[in-house]
Amino acid sequence: MDNHARTPLPDRYEPFAPGIEPAVPVPGYPNTWTHTPAQPLIRRPVTRTEATGPLALWRKLPCDESNLAVLGPGRIAQGQLMHVSGRILDESARPVRDAVVELWQANAAGRYFHPIDQRDAPLDPHFVGNGRVRTDAEGRYAFFTIRPGAYPVPVKDTWWRPPHIHFSVLGPASLSRLVTQMYFPGDPMNEWDRILNSIPDAAARQRLVARQTHPAEVGDGWIAFTHDIVLRGRHATPEA
Ligand SMILES: [Fe+2]
Repeated sequence: MDNHARTPLPDRYEPFAPGIEPAVPVPGYPNTWTHTPAQPLIRRPVTRTEATGPLALWRKLPCDESNLAVLGPGRIAQGQLMHVSGRILDESARPVRDAVVELWQANAAGRYFHPIDQRDAPLDPHFVGNGRVRTDAEGRYAFFTIRPGAYPVPVKDTWWRPPHIHFSVLGPASLSRLVTQMYFPGDPMNEWDRILNSIPDAAARQRLVARQTHPAEVGDGWIAFTHDIVLRGRHATPEA
């Protein structure tokens, strides 16, 4: 056994402060009753194996799907063309390089390209709505896409979900994954969304809302939003 094996690892994954994580099950959203653990989670320290590997996920997953809006010449998704970018950061605001960032979203009419979504709203033949990129040395990710539409949740006593983007971040190892959602600033539906508002802490909810940036930073023809995702610590991006 070498010295490294005997050195205890710091337990870097402190529990979230009260109010940061969603309060589940979410009233009025029946899916959470079957998708939520019935028992409190058992805390388990992270070992060196889990903190360090498997690494280099980008070698195994194609990470060149950054443009969801333009499939080819003349094949442009319908809707408001949009650029979404930001950084993946750790608890000390250090960039997380080589993280795998996945995005999925509804089309401009608020419909997913997925067999489960059978809502009577148009599909867009030029929009699938999935993307995957790898962060650079500064922890940056970026996607070209379209602004998603709102959609009603297919449950009794439904409500409309505000426009939002789903994110999954894998990194630096495959066992560290955050699945979260990004919302748009100033949308009145944010106030009514049962999923966003399942996070009790107002500041934590605000961390899920992107910031609009000037289109000049990305070029003509696109609206632009920036959204940093912090994986751990006091400023961590909540799940939603
Ligand atoms: Fe969604």
